[in-house]
Amino acid sequence: MRQLRGAVAGTRPDMPRSTGRSRLPQAWLTAPKVGAGIGLLGIFVLLALLGPVIAPYDPSATGGEALAPPSLLHLFGTTATGEDVFSQVLTGARLSLEVGLVAALFGELLAVIVGVTSGYLGGLADEGLSAVNNVFLVIPVLPLQIVLVEYLGAQSWVVLALVIAATAWPHGARRLRAQTLSIRRRDYIQAARAMGEPNWRIIGFEIVPNLLAIVATGFLFQVTFAIVVQASLAFLGLGDPRQWSWGTILYWAGNNNAFLLGAWWWYVPPGLCLAFLGMGLALVNLGIDEVINPRLRGAGQVKDRLPAPATGPSAGPEPDKDAVLAIRGLRVEYATPHGSLQAVRGVDLTLRRGQVLGIAGESGSGKSTLAYAVTRLLKAPGRVVEGQVLYRPRDEGSQWVDLLKLPPEELRRFRWERLSMVFQAAMNSLNPVLTVSAQLIDTLATHRPGMTPAARVERAGELLDLVGIDRSRLSAYPHQLSGGQRQRVMIAMALALDPEVMIMDEPTTALDVVVQREILSRLVRLRQQLGITMVFITHDLSLLAEIADTIAVMYAGKVVEYGPARSVTRSPSHPYTAALLASFPSLHGRRRDLQGIRGVPPDLRALPGGCAFHPRCPEAVAACAERIPLLTALGASRQVACLMREPSAVAKLSSQQRAPLHAASAGGAEA
Ligand SMILES: Nc1ncnc2c1ncn2[C@@H]1O[C@H](COP(=O)(O)OP(=O)(O)O)[C@@H](O)[C@H]1O
Ligand code: SF4
Ligand SMILES: [Mg+2]
Repeated sequence: MRQLRGAVAGTRPDMPRSTGRSRLPQAWLTAPKVGAGIGLLGIFVLLALLGPVIAPYDPSATGGEALAPPSLLHLFGTTATGEDVFSQVLTGARLSLEVGLVAALFGELLAVIVGVTSGYLGGLADEGLSAVNNVFLVIPVLPLQIVLVEYLGAQSWVVLALVIAATAWPHGARRLRAQTLSIRRRDYIQAARAMGEPNWRIIGFEIVPNLLAIVATGFLFQVTFAIVVQASLAFLGLGDPRQWSWGTILYWAGNNNAFLLGAWWWYVPPGLCLAFLGMGLALVNLGIDEVINPRLRGAGQVKDRLPAPATGPSAGPEPDKDAVLAIRGLRVEYATPHGSLQAVRGVDLTLRRGQVLGIAGESGSGKSTLAYAVTRLLKAPGRVVEGQVLYRPRDEGSQWVDLLKLPPEELRRFRWERLSMVFQAAMNSLNPVLTVSAQLIDTLATHRPGMTPAARVERAGELLDLVGIDRSRLSAYPHQLSGGQRQRVMIAMALALDPEVMIMDEPTTALDVVVQREILSRLVRLRQQLGITMVFITHDLSLLAEIADTIAVMYAGKVVEYGPARSVTRSPSHPYTAALLASFPSLHGRRRDLQGIRGVPPDLRALPGGCAFHPRCPEAVAACAERIPLLTALGASRQVACLMREPSAVAKLSSQQRAPLHAASAGGAEA
């Protein structure tokens, strides 16, 4: 059934269908904030369950010493009529929590029903439900609650909870409606529709489970809201003042001028209970947020720290005269909850002016991380731990600068003017409410303030000509363009300021083969026309044969083969390069049988010892599991990191070390 659905929708059946559902339980419980939050909540739940039982006195029993400060006899002191405050706090926990939970349960249920139904059904149903939602959003909540409680004479806490629920749902409903609007267009919902599933089933079994994490945060928010509202209403004297809750204690404390009398023990304990319970709920909520959006996890922990590189630009050997960009010893790591992983492990690469450097490798080999690090767009939890990215502007007499040390203002000018980028999903980053023309002109206006409006319009037209889109499309909105056209608009944008270097990270991967072919030919033409210097990243090595001058093949964060494109693609030296070539069809040339690369890319947190490729390598020998091959020269222009391509090293191997190694597990980590 799932497979059929994948086929219907054109999606992989094993693709994760939700952002939060499957990961919520494990990841959620291990987050430290959630642990602390659950701990606090646990204490209050225990209080609510046991409080009335373990309270040392009847909370309403008067007659003790009036306004006695805390003592061993009365831990939280006494009230003006001699009641024990500790017993009142213990007893009050239950009502506060009961109201919070019941109100949140009904409030969130209403939010789900209204929000999801309105987002999913759209049309008149959406308009009607949204109108009701909006009306509730603009009505001042507290006066409405007071009126309702007064009108219903809410002596019972259940009625009070229902009144709170009736006024608490609109914010949640709005959030869920927005999420549903985005989910309902996804492939698996379209597939469910195509398969004739009824609406109630799609809502209940396809949409709501995908919103569970959001529903959970909404629920916790509503618990907090309801507890605070209950306390506020009780403080105002609404509800039954003989039913003990933290709000009722505050009501009596306020009525008896506890503050003026200096009886802090009367109002501080219930106040603190409310604050700590709110804190516990907020911590759990934050934890859920981090699970829904894993990027939040590293935020604040790992900043864009750029430690001083080991050698300054002047200390190391000068890069080639014709080089424009030189990456040296670059190491990038990500902090993850299970330890850090090095995604780029000491990469050295040189980009020459007017040339295209192709970077190839399977998914997860560190290509994008390298691109983000070079352009200083790497976000937490990623950080550059070592290395240099040297750049020399084309201006006469200019010096090498280390991009990793560029101050923010210079970096802002440098990006796009000198170095522009097109990323894989770039076409989705076009602003949907602005025309193509407005977006191109915006870029020009930001970086070329001296340009006249007419010149900007003319330049926008020129840019569309360059990428082969008719000028009449200048007035089109992104949704009126095909995926290929949108990606070409992004390329036009990247060309807008005539940059010296363009970095393209899988610019054609999200497109079909025909459009991919079209864009590639366009880039080849642009290259000849404008002499662009480019880094072209792809997982499809055969593409690079057409566009690149030099190719670097990456595996597990390292360059394993480097050399002129023609020679690398015609006679690959590294077994991984050969396997990569054999696994993609060539856009040109003879047909050949495709062979996948056996095994899976390694886990970067626990790399196999020796050559990281050895568990998958058809040529591996015993020595491969022990020694880390270095990138060494192979002839005049090529470099390869493979022990078996070093005749002198092979000659020194014992017969045991030369024994073929059958792919097996490997322990240890590569240094
Ligand atoms: N934000 C992140 N947090 C943790 N690990 C990450 C993050 N981004 C990428 N990685 C890891 O870094 C490695 C390289 O990823 P990436 O540079 O995207 O590879 P590629 O572009 O070659 O597919 C992968 O193992 C990936 O899991
Ligand atoms: S060093 Fe050994 S395992 Fe690594 S690529 Fe070469 S032959 Fe294969
Ligand atoms: Mg990538």
